[in-house]
Amino acid sequence: MSRKILVTSALPYANGAIHLGHLVEYVQTDIWVRFQRLQGNEVYYFCADDTHGTPIMIAARNRGITPEQLVNQIRKEHFEDLTAFQVEFDNFYSTNTPENRALSEEIYLKAKEKGHIHKKSLNQLFCIHDDMFLPDRFVRGTCPKCGATDQYGDSCEVCSSTYRPEELKDSRCSICGNPPVEKESEHIFFQLADFQQFLEEWLKTPNRVDEGVRKKMHEWIDQGLRHWDISRDGPYFGFAIPGETNKFFYVWLDAPIGYMASSLNFFRKTGKDDLFDAFWRSEENEVYHFIGKDIVYFHTLFWPALLSAGDFRTPTSVFVHGFLTVNGEKMSKSRGTFVRASTYLKHMDPECLRYFYATRLGPALDDLDLNTEDFVQRYNSDVVGNIANLFSRLVSGIASKLEFRLSSELSKEGKVLFDRVAQKKQAIVSCYENRQYAKAIREIQSLSDEVNRFITEKEPWKQIKTDAEAARQTVTDAINAAMALALYLKPVLPVLSGGVEELLALETPLRFDTDLRPLAFGHEIRPYRHLAGRIEKKAFDAMFDEERIEAEANASEKKSASSKSEKAANSPKQGKSGKKENAGKGMEDQATEGIITIDDLTKVELRVGQIVSAELIEGADRLLRIQLDVGEENPRNVIAGIRSAYAPEELKDLKVVCVSNLKPRKMKFGTSEAMLLATGKNDSLTLFVPHRNAVPGDRLG
Ligand code: MSP
Ligand code: ZN
Repeated sequence: MSRKILVTSALPYANGAIHLGHLVEYVQTDIWVRFQRLQGNEVYYFCADDTHGTPIMIAARNRGITPEQLVNQIRKEHFEDLTAFQVEFDNFYSTNTPENRALSEEIYLKAKEKGHIHKKSLNQLFCIHDDMFLPDRFVRGTCPKCGATDQYGDSCEVCSSTYRPEELKDSRCSICGNPPVEKESEHIFFQLADFQQFLEEWLKTPNRVDEGVRKKMHEWIDQGLRHWDISRDGPYFGFAIPGETNKFFYVWLDAPIGYMASSLNFFRKTGKDDLFDAFWRSEENEVYHFIGKDIVYFHTLFWPALLSAGDFRTPTSVFVHGFLTVNGEKMSKSRGTFVRASTYLKHMDPECLRYFYATRLGPALDDLDLNTEDFVQRYNSDVVGNIANLFSRLVSGIASKLEFRLSSELSKEGKVLFDRVAQKKQAIVSCYENRQYAKAIREIQSLSDEVNRFITEKEPWKQIKTDAEAARQTVTDAINAAMALALYLKPVLPVLSGGVEELLALETPLRFDTDLRPLAFGHEIRPYRHLAGRIEKKAFDAMFDEERIEAEANASEKKSASSKSEKAANSPKQGKSGKKENAGKGMEDQATEGIITIDDLTKVELRVGQIVSAELIEGADRLLRIQLDVGEENPRNVIAGIRSAYAPEELKDLKVVCVSNLKPRKMKFGTSEAMLLATGKNDSLTLFVPHRNAVPGDRLG
């Protein structure tokens, strides 16, 4: 009997574009959903945009549009981006909808009726100019612990200490630049502590969450759960709390309810109204959430407690994935590695990314690294060289000379090969079911190796010259085995597998829940059509460059905008003349753009350095760790991206030029305390060395 399964991915915030980090989640979920569909299960995949909160309200205000207009626009972009990556939702809705409002009110009122809600007054920072309470992230000022300037209201990025926004010195409203005042306001709390026992039991249920997640949540529970502040004072873009004035639900209250709202909207419009209760008010069916590790607290404590308070069922499991890094580092706008889905799409095929993520994904919470070289190499060798090559060798070179007709049956060896491949189906099914995608891919690739070996041994390109029927037999044997591979890859690469189905002229699409059978007697296939093309690392470089250039442009725009707004805030009466002054300054900036003064030049300290030692860094195939003598007491630690062009042995004692007064940069593999001067890329990269004798520490200039 087929299972009924409801699946969700976390709802992306409607204040930014979909990026490669998000896609880890949507691709992971989509692979699972497609797999479940191919198993013949009744699956529904829901998502929506997460639309409420202060940042979205402010972003809309800055663009001169209403929050509704902004979230409609962003939702459209999100949907287009995700669809381009073959993420196939049944419904991609919004949290700013009547269904979501009704469900949020229902849950809140139930919780209130059962005594899980109370009120308490709080002191909070308030901006008189903007007439609003300021969320912690909207207060900037000097860190009370270390004195670093321009820090957020909740934590310092320099010394990492956390504090209350009132403790910040010289605090300013980050919207208008004016100093905030303290003001008292009543807040509404959800009594999470009432659910302590319930949550402990809930987390203990087998397969509910990963063991690591359960332990982590237990740490919170053991500390005693604190009441959760679910209200925000207006102006706030969100749902008004029933029975209150100027109070709104905090975005994280209605966000997960958005999962239910998206499903309700879908079930109603497709005439399946009963399914809403069948999924959310009874335990007879399955409900799964896929989320990133940063939002576990919301999904495994608040969310089940809220559902229980509202008399709804709780999820069957919450599946948590890790975070994406790019070439060993956190995605970064200034390095250009914060790649938006729309930028990626200009440079590469979406299935390349789906494939790469599949090779890296398992059921655990580990972070995954998008290493560009691995990415290119894996895709080219696995998908192009192994899978697509199999079909192109068989079809364009050989079947094309045999009217594309297959033999009447498999040979004895062909049958053995087919059975071996077909027998792996159960193992692959179980990999997908358990979200062990990397393992599934390994199995599939090793089967594909076998089929390729079979072809290489038979040498059908020779057979075709002497014995056409023997060649036809080889094609028949190999094509039938390869057909099974197309099924196995179908959840990950739906387009490529669809191409194979067309190529093989299959009457019905491949599925996991029907038996794999060899093609019928004398089946005719179609001429070869392109299935997958090689990719190059250049595409990544172009992608990163594009993002970096845009980030730089945005940063300088923001800088000039903020210096303008600071001025405006300090002297509000400046009015027209202030504007003029700014315009004049802008023009001057333009005229001197790209030219520096001698003072600017002397800021950069270039020195001669001598390499004391160099070594490989495990897990970083572009980097070398270098000890560099720059004439100081101890050599400096330098992490240099020169491994593509230099072996560690050849660097010892080499004299180089470095920037010696660059702020030390913390990287995954240690801190880099200087930068070597080099030009070129990859294996044509070259270091700059002093032409005649020079001593470590000598300053250039
Ligand atoms: N709006 C909330 C979720 C509400 S769910 C009721 C949110 N939005 S988000 O846009 O910041 O993130 C959406 C999902 O993408 C989250 O599950 C998050 O963990 C995931 N990711 C965002 N950046 C990511 C990476 N760099 N790597 C992997 N996943 C990432 O959180
Ligand atoms: Zn303000």
